[in-house]
Amino acid sequence: MMRYQQEIDQAVNHYRALLESQIARAEGMNNAQTEMKKGKTVIGLAGGDGIGPIIVKQAEKALRKLLADEIASGQIKLRAIEGLTIENRLAKGQAVPADVLAAIKECDVLLKGPTTTPSGGTMESANVTLRRELDLFANVRPVSVPEAGIDWTFFRENTEGEYTLGSKGIEIPGMLTMDFKVTTVAGTRRIAKAAFDFAKANGKTHLAIVTKSNIMKKTDGMFSAICHEIANDYPGITVEEYYIDIMTANLINPAIRKKFQVFLLPNLYGDILTDEAAQLQGGVGTAGSANTGSRYAMFEAIHGSAPRMIEEGLGDYANPESILRAAVMLLRHIGLPSKANALDAAITNAAAACPVTGDKDGNTCEAFGDCLEKLL
Ligand code: IPM
Ligand code: MG
Repeated sequence: MMRYQQEIDQAVNHYRALLESQIARAEGMNNAQTEMKKGKTVIGLAGGDGIGPIIVKQAEKALRKLLADEIASGQIKLRAIEGLTIENRLAKGQAVPADVLAAIKECDVLLKGPTTTPSGGTMESANVTLRRELDLFANVRPVSVPEAGIDWTFFRENTEGEYTLGSKGIEIPGMLTMDFKVTTVAGTRRIAKAAFDFAKANGKTHLAIVTKSNIMKKTDGMFSAICHEIANDYPGITVEEYYIDIMTANLINPAIRKKFQVFLLPNLYGDILTDEAAQLQGGVGTAGSANTGSRYAMFEAIHGSAPRMIEEGLGDYANPESILRAAVMLLRHIGLPSKANALDAAITNAAAACPVTGDKDGNTCEAFGDCLEKLL
């Protein structure tokens, strides 16, 4: 009798079920881009955990000022989404409790504060659940540092890679653990198309595909092949492929980084590289993130809930800039570009007039929000 036979049998059955679920997901995939329905727009506002409610409060204040007319006429509704807290999620044993998800699905777009993910265990990250349940396949993250010639837009695939089955790995206790990475043809096509369409529509001439296809030969290999194939439909765009390791170096190499415009990359590399990029812009507290799909869209800060800031009593000093930049993207998404530009400019001016450092030497989150409100 072979050793570990029972564990292997269990793992094989588990793996079979995973394969079946992933084939079903790929077959059901929707490729359409979000089309906002005309008329009334409901914007959900979810505080989340840690510094989340503190920063979302300031974003809500700015939106109420900026959208006062639209709210008064009923064209836009702001709706609070309760229950996306770690306490409620743990109590219900669900990454996003069913009633909270139903409430989110009744909104058109969501502005979401960061949510805490317990490390280890089997509780999935609320972000991952929401991205999957709302099928938010494109994670779009702009980073700009005009004085350094940096104007980048990252198109991070948002529902696949290491994230899809990250809570569904295999463990043979005392012996080994295995996680899985999933890349589908349909999932790669739709993010590649979204990135190239964006590039074309915005006059971008360079697109960098980022993989580690020399090592992850199946998943990244296919991601790369499909992206190059789609590139053929966009002759005006120069396409180059880089491995993720050298790309992390390139982002801090002033001689090279200026040429980058649009990045197209699988989920985990996108997660990592966008934090690095955000740091060049002034920190993860400064960058917004859009998660868009075929029906819904969710906008958030790119950083987490910062439990350390809360523990150290610094929550009130959290920087709301990242969630506010996300609100800019939300406004653009719902068809209000001039409001988006007004908010964007006001955030930049408020950051100069009323800097927040994340510590007591800077302004509080609320003081920043007050300063911003006056500039709107
Ligand atoms: C992000 C975050 C999330 C991610 C976490 C909170 C699950 O780091 O949006 O980049 O890993 O995608
Ligand atoms: Mg991240």
